[in-house]
Amino acid sequence: MRQEPLLTMRGIEKSFPGVRALKDVDFTLRSGQIHALMGENGAGKSTLIKVLTGVYPRDGGDMAMEGTRIFPSSPRDAEKFGISTVYQEVNLIPHLTVAENICLGREDRAAGIIRWKKVRERARKALARLELDDGIDVEAQLSDCSIAVQQMVAIARALDIDAKVLILDEPTSSLDEAESDELFSIMARLKKRGMGIIFVTHFLDQVYRVSDAITVLRNGQLVGEYSAAELPRLELVARMMGKRAEEVKRLEKRAAVTTKSGRKTVISVRRLARKGSINPIDFDLNEGEVLGLAGLLGSGRSETAEVLFGVDAADAGEIEIDGRATKVDSPAKAMRLGFGMLTEDRKYSGIIPNLSIKENIILAMQAKLGPLKKIPPRQANEIADGFIKALDIRTPSREQLVKNLSGGNQQKVIIARWLAIHPRLLILDEPTRGIDVGTRAEIEELIRKLRDEGMSLLLISSELDEVVRNSQRVLVLRDRNKIAELAGEDISEQRILHTIAQ
Ligand SMILES: Nc1ncnc2c1ncn2[C@@H]1O[C@H](COP(=O)(O)OP(=O)(O)O)[C@@H](O)[C@H]1O
Ligand SMILES: [Mg+2]
Repeated sequence: MRQEPLLTMRGIEKSFPGVRALKDVDFTLRSGQIHALMGENGAGKSTLIKVLTGVYPRDGGDMAMEGTRIFPSSPRDAEKFGISTVYQEVNLIPHLTVAENICLGREDRAAGIIRWKKVRERARKALARLELDDGIDVEAQLSDCSIAVQQMVAIARALDIDAKVLILDEPTSSLDEAESDELFSIMARLKKRGMGIIFVTHFLDQVYRVSDAITVLRNGQLVGEYSAAELPRLELVARMMGKRAEEVKRLEKRAAVTTKSGRKTVISVRRLARKGSINPIDFDLNEGEVLGLAGLLGSGRSETAEVLFGVDAADAGEIEIDGRATKVDSPAKAMRLGFGMLTEDRKYSGIIPNLSIKENIILAMQAKLGPLKKIPPRQANEIADGFIKALDIRTPSREQLVKNLSGGNQQKVIIARWLAIHPRLLILDEPTRGIDVGTRAEIEELIRKLRDEGMSLLLISSELDEVVRNSQRVLVLRDRNKIAELAGEDISEQRILHTIAQ
């Protein structure tokens, strides 16, 4: 007989203004199971957990613990149903002691007075169940303890309340290896006692080390639930990136690109780094070449581009342009050096809806000239008309407000804005996102044309096939590190997925 699940979530819906964070999501946790919740950044993992723990009310769907419907209204309320969390930022009370945190809200009292000795004993007992009683002083103030110890305290609290479900959202991101190992052995012990554990992490090694089941989310939707033993790593990565099973099997090497070798290097990036953003990275950008950046969302792709363009200052390393070390500490400086960057970030390169096409196009040129030198109106008209024609921007006139254009045509306006400054390096972050297929093909065509004219391009896209189709070299990123550089015939979707899954 198959045991009834410990926890079931069915058809869960949750929206925030402008975002449907969860769409009809199912999740099932069994007793004695370690269940990994996987997905790229923004897939909805934390939201699902916050719905489960009562941080957010659900907009729709059902949740049940051992068959009984539950509506947790806060994390403390969720504890009453046996659901305990160790949040990314541990949600305990820093100025209280370890013992107080373990017993908080359920302190032993006699005639209304808290019996501290009892509280400390209980805390010690809970830690002893984790075999941690020697290492942790229950009278220490929590804020004086390391993150690892704080997590152990949260887990001890879960034991003290006899939690049936324990949730760990990115618990190892600030732990060292020994601390992570300790956490995993504790997880194994809790599993043996029949606890169900939901484990959120982006470290694939850890998933395969400890998990029994894997649920994958993408863009707020359930991709599927798998047995960890039956889901090869390559397939897991492919699922997280939105590839279907048949597609993964079909992925073949693409036809070799005709790259002229011996291209001149225009920009060399050496040990470029920014704390919390990217680890030291090396790469070259060559004339007449598209360099692709591939990796899961959150792997450091956009961060690399932002440091290169001076949106975020690097705190180590250098950028050499034509052999000379240069500091790129602001987008204005980047533009003076001949860099252009198309992003989704409205501050630097988004459209300004209430300005005309013309005004949007000359924006970067004007910024480069500075506020004192105005572009003569006739020249501005000519530039705008030139790009409207060259990029086939569908509009009755250059004076049309940009907000009246389709998404694809708006994107062309932004590209025109950058082309107007004749950049030697053009950074394209998701250039085809949210754009119709026709315009998408035109933009890809334009990328190839600019490359052939000698421009250096850096291409970031969540569509792996787009990176593969258009790049002469590809850097593969994982966890904010460059883990591989592929060139020419080695570039294929299969190879990239394998590299990430390694
Ligand atoms: N409090 C919030 N307000 C608005 N949007 C949010 C909020 N929390 C999450 N989101 C959005 O919901 C989506 C899912 O986010 P999240 O659950 O944090 O993903 P994950 O944990 O998988 O990285 C994202 O688009 C995110 O921007
Ligand atoms: Mg999250």
